[in-house]
Amino acid sequence: MRKPVIAGNWKLYKTKDEALALIEELAPLVTGVDSVEIVVAPVFTVLPALPAALAGTGINLAAQDVFWEEEGAYTGEVSPRMLLDAGASHVIIGHSERRQYFGETDTTVNKKIKAALKGALVPIFCIGETLEEREAGNTFKVLERQVKGGLEGLSETQFAPVIIAYEPVWAIGTGKVATDDQAQEAHAFIRGVVAQLLGKDAADKVRILYGGSVKPENVKGLMGRPDIDGALVGGASLKGASFASIVRFGE
Ligand code: PGA
Repeated sequence: MRKPVIAGNWKLYKTKDEALALIEELAPLVTGVDSVEIVVAPVFTVLPALPAALAGTGINLAAQDVFWEEEGAYTGEVSPRMLLDAGASHVIIGHSERRQYFGETDTTVNKKIKAALKGALVPIFCIGETLEEREAGNTFKVLERQVKGGLEGLSETQFAPVIIAYEPVWAIGTGKVATDDQAQEAHAFIRGVVAQLLGKDAADKVRILYGGSVKPENVKGLMGRPDIDGALVGGASLKGASFASIVRFGE
């Protein structure tokens, strides 16, 4: 059985005080939910302020990016060990905004996934096609390239903690959610690529989250599909009530 994951990607929102206020609102709304793995991902500077507030809530802490070196002359970067030190257990890697605006490639994503795993962080590995790629009929080709590139060189054992997030770029922040059928089709395809690469057991176990305009109103339909194991939520994770109702999709 795959335990669902609902992860909130706060992107470039929430200062420390705003983040603490959000947790104060969210925590009581999700207490007692133990059938779902809950994750929130604030900006780097807010990470160290949250573990105390999250203690006992069951909410896990993620960073939004990581660098692949432990330390060195790499101005502006943050290493896996530093994220652990700040209290993070998870890290988002290869989000489409990082690929789009910050030059991330399948190669850098692969290095980051390996470094995160080595540093005992759970990678939330993001992939997804652009509108142009979908319209050109290249969705599967792009997803296959991203999965294979991102996971290159990993053994089945190394891969085990990895969470994959399928986020069609055209659905992110646009209000245009993929249909349940479109998402299921992509997720089943991705699981197939993982099976090809790392075997059926790895593919059966990996959680594949959907991301892109997930809201309390559409989460249930998505989660009803066999290969959709959770959600990576942007906009709707910035309010306690909407994120909590996504977390409680099953009720
Ligand atoms: P959205 O963002 O829910 O605001 O579309 C999702 C994401 O980018 O992870």
